[in-house]
Amino acid sequence: MARLKVGVLISGRGSNLQALIDACADPDFPAEIALVLSNKADAYGLERARRAGIPAAVVSHRDYADKPGFEAAMDEALNAAGVELVCLAGFMRLLTSGFVERWHDKLINIHPSLLPAFKGLDTHARAIEASVRFTGCTVHFVRPAMDEGPIVLQAVVPILESDDSHSLADRVLVAEHRSYPLALKLIAEGRARVEGERVAISGSPTTASTTPSTAPEPLLNPPA
Ligand code: GRF
Repeated sequence: MARLKVGVLISGRGSNLQALIDACADPDFPAEIALVLSNKADAYGLERARRAGIPAAVVSHRDYADKPGFEAAMDEALNAAGVELVCLAGFMRLLTSGFVERWHDKLINIHPSLLPAFKGLDTHARAIEASVRFTGCTVHFVRPAMDEGPIVLQAVVPILESDDSHSLADRVLVAEHRSYPLALKLIAEGRARVEGERVAISGSPTTASTTPSTAPEPLLNPPA
């Protein structure tokens, strides 16, 4: 069966990109990365793509007079590579509704919180500040409003007494690296589909090697 052609948009270190590269390295994985685009020439993720032999290019927002021009250039590159699904992986530019609508239900993002809590930046510090007991990450289809859209999956990470934003970010990142490949797998297999602004997941629980526990043990804090 043909693998789903994916484009990954990055701005920086690209550890989630790496998780997707590693998952796609398995010939049985139902998706392949056709193109990595970065809006920053010095993004380390570009190096990761090159090392994996994946086509990578820079489309710098600074080279365009306005956002639609920048996004049209990205569209052109994605379409030329035959991309069918776009994954945002630490892409730090807000996209216009024009771009988001052109990729409607074909554009996903990973966010380091349990949405709809803690949209935006500095999620870990804000979660600690709010004294919430659990945070995590969310993979969702993208809609024009920032960090909104039908949720594909979430992973829960407890917040420890000893956590600062860095230690928490490190643990959430581990969950991200499991979650993004799994979400991509579910979409590529046609098992995760948007129906009426919710994601319906069909089929039996996946057992692929990229699979985290999709249904973590319920955690009670404080313990009952
Ligand atoms: C991740 O925490 C992701 O959830 C957020 O930006 C960060 C990107 O990290 N959107 P990386 O570039 O994938 O390492």
